[in-house]
Amino acid sequence: MNHLLSIEALTADDIHGLLALAAELKCQRGTPGAQPLVGQTWALIFTKSSTRTRVSFEVGIRELGGFPMFLSKNDIQLGRGEPIMDTARVLGRMVHGAIIRTFAQQDVSDFAAFSNIPTVNALTDDEHPCQILADLLTIKEALGGWDGRKIAFIGDGFSNMTRSWMWAAKHLGFELVVASPAACLPPSEFLAALDAPNVSVTLDPALAAQGAHVINTDVWLSMGQEDQTDKEREFTGFQVNAQLLCQAAPGHIVLHCLPAYRGKEITAEVLELHANTIFQQAENRLHAQKAVLTKLVESRT
Ligand code: CP
Ligand code: NVA
Repeated sequence: MNHLLSIEALTADDIHGLLALAAELKCQRGTPGAQPLVGQTWALIFTKSSTRTRVSFEVGIRELGGFPMFLSKNDIQLGRGEPIMDTARVLGRMVHGAIIRTFAQQDVSDFAAFSNIPTVNALTDDEHPCQILADLLTIKEALGGWDGRKIAFIGDGFSNMTRSWMWAAKHLGFELVVASPAACLPPSEFLAALDAPNVSVTLDPALAAQGAHVINTDVWLSMGQEDQTDKEREFTGFQVNAQLLCQAAPGHIVLHCLPAYRGKEITAEVLELHANTIFQQAENRLHAQKAVLTKLVESRT
């Protein structure tokens, strides 16, 4: 694995290997461990806000012996229009790896191609691979795995989160049902390219939740869409609330990548009832990303 650009580009073996290492690193945290990033500086180039991703990468890089350098777009010339391919060619000669949060997936791919250093997608409009690795680790911990499990995603059917989830289902073979308003369903071309009979879409959240072992949701308006109030209106009836959870399987878990908007995609009651799992999911960002960084460095040596 030379980069982590998307879940789409991973294989099932990559995912299993990353999750096994993440679990090991989680157990070993706090004891002297491997420091594969010693002497390395990793740039975090962020053009969108972040709490979890930024903090977990900064802490993870330090724990692996490296030095994180946070660069918001306003701190660097990228924010004044310097092309990503030039930024990549400069940073590629100075730092050892890059973690990028931005809008266009193409910018992350271009950075990887032009910089020649390991590059990680820390969220684009298309995918959020680091989050899905943490979510899968949480499911393994809470339910022992996903074989024979039904996973429901209630919300925006074509956001970065749902796209990454659909690719994860394609690679790993679990049943994924996405419930979304008609205006936000994944387009048929995407579903054709995905070609995963285990992934289905519905307009009915109750149908998706029926017998589900994992109920997953995310904000209705992703970063960059905050002023799309028309889109938000489409989500009436798509809230994860106590009534919807009555449909789910006994012992189900609820996941939310956070930040959460209580009273919109999830009620305060459900979020607090499932806070243990949801904040375990947030913590797992650290362990999953330490595994990603370790594998990226290993593959270069
Ligand atoms: N879930 C997630 O990526 O959170 P941040 O936006 O806070 O990084
Ligand atoms: N879909 C959300 C995820 C936030 C972590 C967004 O892009 O804003």
